[in-house]
Amino acid sequence: MTDSRPVTTTDSGIPVPSDEFSQSVGADGPLLLQDHYLIQKLAHFDRERVPERVVHAKGGGAYGTLEITEDVSQFTKADVFRRGKRTELFLRFSTVAGELGFADTARDPRGFAVKLYTEEGNYDIVGNNTPIFFIRDPQKFPDFIHSQKRRADNHLHDNNMQWDFWTLSPESAHQVTILMSDRGTPYSWRHMNGYGSHTFLWYNAAREKFWVKYHFKTDQGIRNFTGTEAAAAGAEDPDFHIRDLHEAIRKGDHPTWTLQVQVMPFEDAADYRFNPFDLTKIWPHEDYPPIDIGTLTLSRNPENYFAEVEQAAFEPSNLVPGVGASPDKMLQGRLFSYPDTHRYRIGANYLQLPVNRPKNAVHSYNRDGSMRYDNPGDPVYAPNSFAGPVADPLLLAGEHYEVTGEIVRSAHRLHAEDDDFGQARALWEKVMADTDRDHLVANIVAHASAPEVRTETKERVVDYWRSVHKDLGDRVSRGLGVTGQ
Ligand code: NDP
Ligand code: HEM
Repeated sequence: MTDSRPVTTTDSGIPVPSDEFSQSVGADGPLLLQDHYLIQKLAHFDRERVPERVVHAKGGGAYGTLEITEDVSQFTKADVFRRGKRTELFLRFSTVAGELGFADTARDPRGFAVKLYTEEGNYDIVGNNTPIFFIRDPQKFPDFIHSQKRRADNHLHDNNMQWDFWTLSPESAHQVTILMSDRGTPYSWRHMNGYGSHTFLWYNAAREKFWVKYHFKTDQGIRNFTGTEAAAAGAEDPDFHIRDLHEAIRKGDHPTWTLQVQVMPFEDAADYRFNPFDLTKIWPHEDYPPIDIGTLTLSRNPENYFAEVEQAAFEPSNLVPGVGASPDKMLQGRLFSYPDTHRYRIGANYLQLPVNRPKNAVHSYNRDGSMRYDNPGDPVYAPNSFAGPVADPLLLAGEHYEVTGEIVRSAHRLHAEDDDFGQARALWEKVMADTDRDHLVANIVAHASAPEVRTETKERVVDYWRSVHKDLGDRVSRGLGVTGQ
């Protein structure tokens, strides 16, 4: 050992005499309970893991900035969207269904979760690389995820389970079209878009309200694997995407995305051609053209994966003044679910961890709890007459809007185009090139040809795709060798 190296200590800072040998009775004898260094080492190792995320377990991330280049103050008063504003951020990418250690290149949507450390608190945009989702009611989310994960009996993924759920949930068709296209196997996280997906509320200083959607468009260009290439890349290197991002940033090749917004006047929502809060739908660009408003750049790798990536805690409920939730039922469900899972997965004080804590000062009356080290002092309650923090009701002025209706459990289809298949059809008919269509058909056929997929399920698969487009259904029918019901 050289003089420059520090002496190993216990976690209490006490120097330890050996990194290799436990204290024993004689060199070959049994060990002693008094060897508290050994006991601390083993006991701590036994507790190294926190539960992995119930979804989006495998991922990676990086730090960067969002710079706003356009004036959107007519739509929102959020300081983070002020022209010229630069805000530090952390972005985590992920797959959805795989566990920690799963192949990055698997066919799956990709998470695109942005934590903006604004001067008005953390604003999290927790989106995916697709602008839509499989379902429109959070009631179905646990069931949907169970169908994508593993069977109860043999702990295997099961394509029959996936197609069974999808074909019995026709609102999934739009998202499954994108998932089964080559966008379901992106070449890298740098080469895909991110979408806030939900509709959010924006309100300005004059208390006028708008609905907004976010799109982070990759400046590296869209690049995808084919299904075969993705499987080969994953077999070669399950960490392909983590490595790609880390290496690019390490070499100074900093990826960027252009932030676009689609803005809908508040009043348009009521009689728009479909429910603008339905997460299975995009807003067509011709109705609400995307506006470029800034650039997101990733420029710094995390230094400690567990501390900064594994313990990163995103929550769609982190909304700053000038931004609010919409009636999107999925978003409403998510507002509850994320902080709930963080308290379980990491602990009540997860917001004290460096990656999660805001950069602005926190003046909260929440206190105590497991592992709290930065506890607020007196006064410990509000209202008080001791100069404690006071809430400012004017901050959220403009966020309010009226809602009335009966309490029901249903989904009214009040708008002319509230169907399940129209936008998937537009994607197939108008947007996809011939090669995209060929790959979509091949990917569907390969996936639904897995040995566990039952014939009756295959029949429904054909019907499902015929509902999107007759040509698509006919081609899937030929590929699967079944006619449909
Ligand atoms: P547009 O032609 O104006 O927009 C088409 C959009 O589709 C572009 O944003 C493009 O994103 C994206 N796109 C292009 N190729 C593919 C592909 N192979 N798979 C998935 N997306 C692709 O039409 P509309 O706005 O009327 O939308 C038509 C359909 O396009 C929708 O039904 C939806 O399926 C899909 N789409 C629409 C989006 C929207 O927000 N309007 C966003 C993404 C998809 P890019 O520029 O990144 O290639
Ligand atoms: C992660 C729930 C829908 C994107 C998670 C996690 C939960 C969850 C519990 C784990 C969080 C953690 O442990 O840190 C739900 C529920 C949904 C829903 C209940 C619907 C009702 C969606 C949708 C999107 C999305 C629609 C995208 C538009 C993500 C992302 C992550 C995630 C990106 C990973 C965040 C990270 O990187 O840490 N979700 N989710 N989820 N979800 Fe959802």
